[in-house]
Amino acid sequence: KKGNYDHFMQKEIHEQPHSLTTTMRGRLKHNSVLLGGLKEHMKTIRHSRRIVFIGCGTSYNAALAARPILEELSSIPVTMEIASDLLDRQGPIYREDTAVFVSQSGETADTLLALEYALENGALCVGITNTVGSTLARKTHCGIHINAGCEIGVASTKAYTSQIVVMVMMALAIGADRISTQARREDIINGLSDLPNQVSEVLKLDREMKDLAESLINLESLLVFGRGYNYATALEGALKVKEVALMHSEGMLAGEMKHGPLALVDETLPIIVVATRDSCFSKQQSVIQQLHARKGRLIVLCSKGDAQSVCPGRSCRIIEVPQVADCLQPVVNIIPLQLLAYHLTVLRGYNVDQPRNLAKSVTTQ
Ligand code: F6R
Repeated sequence: KKGNYDHFMQKEIHEQPHSLTTTMRGRLKHNSVLLGGLKEHMKTIRHSRRIVFIGCGTSYNAALAARPILEELSSIPVTMEIASDLLDRQGPIYREDTAVFVSQSGETADTLLALEYALENGALCVGITNTVGSTLARKTHCGIHINAGCEIGVASTKAYTSQIVVMVMMALAIGADRISTQARREDIINGLSDLPNQVSEVLKLDREMKDLAESLINLESLLVFGRGYNYATALEGALKVKEVALMHSEGMLAGEMKHGPLALVDETLPIIVVATRDSCFSKQQSVIQQLHARKGRLIVLCSKGDAQSVCPGRSCRIIEVPQVADCLQPVVNIIPLQLLAYHLTVLRGYNVDQPRNLAKSVTTQ
């Protein structure tokens, strides 16, 4: 069932133009978004005092990627909870909250326990999952299936991008009653329709990412800096590298760089900086300059045509990706990092589809 591919992870990475198409199928209509699963509860969601995203691992990261656009289009405060941490703290969840649970499998123990906790506390519980009939799908009040197709590789790839797209569509649906953001929403909807094409485009970086992986194969560590929409890209890129390539990697908020991580910078430690065009671009340019001044070994992920603007001295390695609507950019930007993690794993001789010590569905606490 791997077709022409050597591994499921590789197949699932390359399948993303198709999985994103199925995620959006029947849901984008005449400049509006149709999410049947949320329709009856939309009024309650719009009136909630807070939206809380709850998940683990990659699913948490997907929610983090969608958080800024949900805040922007809904004007409702959006907070983030890692399921186990919410349970450890017994953090406050109120009747006036909408709790959105994100899980590819729909069977993750921590996420399901957090769901029970939120139900007991009277919140409206929304599920976002890839698995029809899963416990998450059954126990939430309403929800959206991401329809990415079965994901077999333990490392989540196509589910991540489909989760982001579903949560962007959710933000569009929640914000649909506002005239003031209509043009913005139309732009995003147009961006969504074209997204599978842009993803096909960025997948052409496969060879380049293999070359990059070859240059990193014997290193011990890799940092990834992002911010804004692409803070999630940094966390998720680093998670992929550590879980499959078994290489230490950390995703970091670029705004925190001066508060500690800068001490790590030297000529040997590779650092990926995500600096595609959006409202944070100039801040990322200055982060690059500061890393450069400390002789950091930089790999910059930037928008097509921006190589000069992000790295005038040509001393960085550049990964150029197509520019899309700011809130959809994390979908495009994660793909070179997925490819990098994949190639690093194969080159280092590790098991791509079943990394040591990990299971696809974590059904124990
Ligand atoms: C990473 C990965 C894990 C899962 C996490 C949550 O590639 O697969 O971090 O994302 O265990 O799983 P789900 O989404 O099934 O709840």
